[in-house]
Amino acid sequence: NKVLVLHGPNLNLLGTRQPEIYGEEALADIDNALYEKAALAGMELRCRQSNHEGELVDAIQAARLDGTNAIIINPAAYTHTSVAILDALNAFDGQVIEVHLSNVHKREAFRHHSYVSLRADGVIAGLGSRGYLLALEALANPGNRTD
Ligand code: DQA
Repeated sequence: NKVLVLHGPNLNLLGTRQPEIYGEEALADIDNALYEKAALAGMELRCRQSNHEGELVDAIQAARLDGTNAIIINPAAYTHTSVAILDALNAFDGQVIEVHLSNVHKREAFRHHSYVSLRADGVIAGLGSRGYLLALEALANPGNRTD
């Protein structure tokens, strides 16, 4: 079970960026917790952050070819703008789980629409960094899926 975690733009600033919205944890803390959980579950995990839309597209394209079974993605602001990321995910055959630290539906109207949700098998929003761990847990225990 090979999983790719993708973090979009500005998530490299976690911990210092609007901590009242996004929490006090740094991205490295989130990734380390994911690596620990993945190791316990016997999953192969890779975490990547990029501020660049094309790099995220490249990473999703690479995942089609390297045996990746699932992608956990927080596309950040590209959630609301990127047809390119949606198209790349549509070309990927595995599971896709979309994660947002904040509850985007409680915020500005422009955050209510997600292109990525048109492809995502599951969406988790508003639970902070726990959302990533819950996504990983769902992938580790696929028995509870309803589709
Ligand atoms: C975010 C929500 C997005 O609207 C925002 O642009 C982000 C982070 C979240 O994790 O809550 O950068 O994806």
